[in-house]
Amino acid sequence: MEQVISTHGLTRLFGETVAVDHLDLTVQRGEVFGLLGPNGAGKTTTIRLLNGILRPSAGEARVLGMDVRTQGNEIRRHTGVLTETPSLYEALTARENLLFFGDLYDLPPAQLKQRVEELLEEFGLAERADERVGTYSKGMRQRLAIARALLHRPLLLFLDEPTSGLDPLAARRVREMIQRLSHQEGRTIFLCTHNLAEAQLLCSRVGVIDHGRLRALGSPSELARELWQGVWVEIDLRGQLSDQLAEVLEEIPAIQSHSFEDGRLTLQLKDEEAIPEVVAALAARGGRIYRVAPREHTLEEIYFRIQGGG
Ligand SMILES: Nc1ncnc2c1ncn2[C@@H]1O[C@H](COP(=O)(O)OP(=O)(O)OP(=O)(O)O)[C@@H](O)[C@H]1O
Ligand SMILES: [Mg+2]
Repeated sequence: MEQVISTHGLTRLFGETVAVDHLDLTVQRGEVFGLLGPNGAGKTTTIRLLNGILRPSAGEARVLGMDVRTQGNEIRRHTGVLTETPSLYEALTARENLLFFGDLYDLPPAQLKQRVEELLEEFGLAERADERVGTYSKGMRQRLAIARALLHRPLLLFLDEPTSGLDPLAARRVREMIQRLSHQEGRTIFLCTHNLAEAQLLCSRVGVIDHGRLRALGSPSELARELWQGVWVEIDLRGQLSDQLAEVLEEIPAIQSHSFEDGRLTLQLKDEEAIPEVVAALAARGGRIYRVAPREHTLEEIYFRIQGGG
């Protein structure tokens, strides 16, 4: 698989503050990678480093095969960046903004005009495209800013909190757009978000960063396997856990831990092989089983476990 981002010991200081601390990270072509972490963790600084907007204090990074220290301009021709506070020209209309920024990418005028119309349509801005951006709501600005980041059809798109401040429908549209860009168009997306459900939905891999340091890296299921041993299964019994069933739980060695709440038994098993044995034993002692399902840990649970809280 082709690496579109790779960093080794990437570090950035601001005075005494270590904003990014020896970051080792790779992102493969076509994936949606999520960088998660609390306020001030170093996410935005990482995006700026990867686009050659800031210079590293130490370490190195290659983006689309290019060196962030020396090839920032070239990198930015192939990446799109949605910053936390996108700047748009308030006095210009949405259409004028896109034409202006598209011009900076040297797109041929006819092609640019067509691309702008396409994006206005796609982002639901066509109707109000000739109104000044100064009159736009937060969500409309955000959609315009994302459209702007996509003008030159970048291979790699950096989105810094793309849905923050958006209403539920607008946020959903942005998430669908991210899925479309990734699944249908094969673009690589580097996403920073505080919305863990959003990251869970969109990201094939995530990194968790805190105080500039990478605390974890992998797919949500890989991280869950590292954080919690064994296989987790939920069994719905509806009703109470009889003494006979409780005995079964003590008798089977493969059951490492168990809890029961609202008719649902949650078991931590040594491995998958134990599932049929447990189900058969429960049924044999009168357990009425309505559902057996693996229990996936949510990204929120993973995040808080990594942060050592919750
Ligand atoms: N230009 C700057 N000058 C001085 N310090 C900075 C600068 N930019 C970032 N920092 C510091 O670097 C650290 C990381 O900031 P960064 O903006 O990368 O965090 P973040 O993870 O994006 O946070 P948030 O979730 O709040 O957006 C913080 O301590 C911040 O104060
Ligand atoms: Mg930030």
